[in-house]
Amino acid sequence: MASLNQVLTFLGVVVSIKCILDLVSFISLYCRPSRLHQFLHGSEPYALITGASDGIGKAIAKELYSRGFNVILHGRNEQKLQAVEAEFRKGGSKAVKLWVADATSPEVDFDKAIKQWKDLHITLVIHNVGSARPKSGRYVATYIPKRPHPHVLCDRLDSISEKELMDDIYRNSLFPFFFTRAILPKLRQASGPAEMLYIGSLAGERPMPHLTPYGATKSFLKQFSGSIGLDERSGIPSNVSTVYVNVGSVVSNSHKIEANLFSPSSEIYAKSLVDKIGCGRKVLVPYLPHALQFWPTNVIPEWMLDRFVKQAMEEEMKLWKKD
Ligand SMILES: NC(=O)c1ccc[n+]([C@@H]2O[C@H](COP(=O)([O-])OP(=O)(O)OC[C@H]3O[C@@H](n4cnc5c(N)ncnc54)[C@H](OP(=O)(O)O)[C@@H]3O)[C@@H](O)[C@H]2O)c1
Repeated sequence: MASLNQVLTFLGVVVSIKCILDLVSFISLYCRPSRLHQFLHGSEPYALITGASDGIGKAIAKELYSRGFNVILHGRNEQKLQAVEAEFRKGGSKAVKLWVADATSPEVDFDKAIKQWKDLHITLVIHNVGSARPKSGRYVATYIPKRPHPHVLCDRLDSISEKELMDDIYRNSLFPFFFTRAILPKLRQASGPAEMLYIGSLAGERPMPHLTPYGATKSFLKQFSGSIGLDERSGIPSNVSTVYVNVGSVVSNSHKIEANLFSPSSEIYAKSLVDKIGCGRKVLVPYLPHALQFWPTNVIPEWMLDRFVKQAMEEEMKLWKKD
């Protein structure tokens, strides 16, 4: 019979090994050279980026373009996309193609879109389109009876119209869902590895006030990315892998704040993300300061975390209101 001392020693060894392995895995992610080249195969490899007319999507597209990919830029505003195309062409000679489709629309014809790329060798898809940003009018003062301050700024589920909720669900979840379904057979035809990245958010990891629909749509994406990845590896494994990207605060068109270490510009963020493409993780926090920022969320007590999150969101709401 093992003594209490032996049991505690055994547990100590197991926990220490786990901590050392986690640390090694953590450090290796941020120190290892990029493996992006795995996806640069075939004579003319293409990367397709949704929501690429601005913000993080545009920055990722630009980074991939500068590293040798031809790109397909998706957006809803053709003129804005054409301006991005012109900007890219000044800095390189690879092909730039455009795909205009409103991600909130259930009418998007994915099969038709894919037919037009039948001769293109697509090896990377970045499912980036998404937004937490309310449309004007959503963050109006809401009257809550019997409260000391009757007019409280809030964004409760019942203060958002059904139409707007459906738009959020389509853009953030269903558009990538149906697009994945349509493009998978094409990716499987690639002559080497192909990968799809799903741009998520910390809001999809844990509950956050004022972001109920957004957080739920990003959780959907995380579950979906993981399951699709497993599907592709079961039976006869395919060449397609998936990665869910957990994003923290990044300066972008819909998040206009002053850049700092924990809120990098879209360009700095995109560089760190593109460097990690091909790293083999199923869930990824590509930007090191975000990883350091997220780490305590796994260890501090729930009540304390809720308090921090609430405070942080109140600050964020003030910024949104100012805009
Ligand atoms: N920025 C952050 O702090 C942050 C944090 C966590 C997660 N994220 C995630 O990162 C991704 C990119 O966000 P971002 O901050 O870069 O946003 P952004 O600056 O607003 O850019 C969003 C891009 O998506 C396009 N888009 C928006 N709605 C669309 C629609 N209905 N149909 C087609 N295209 C549409 C926009 O087109 P237009 O140019 O026409 O507007 C733009 O190209 C999102 O998935 C977001 O949830 C961002």
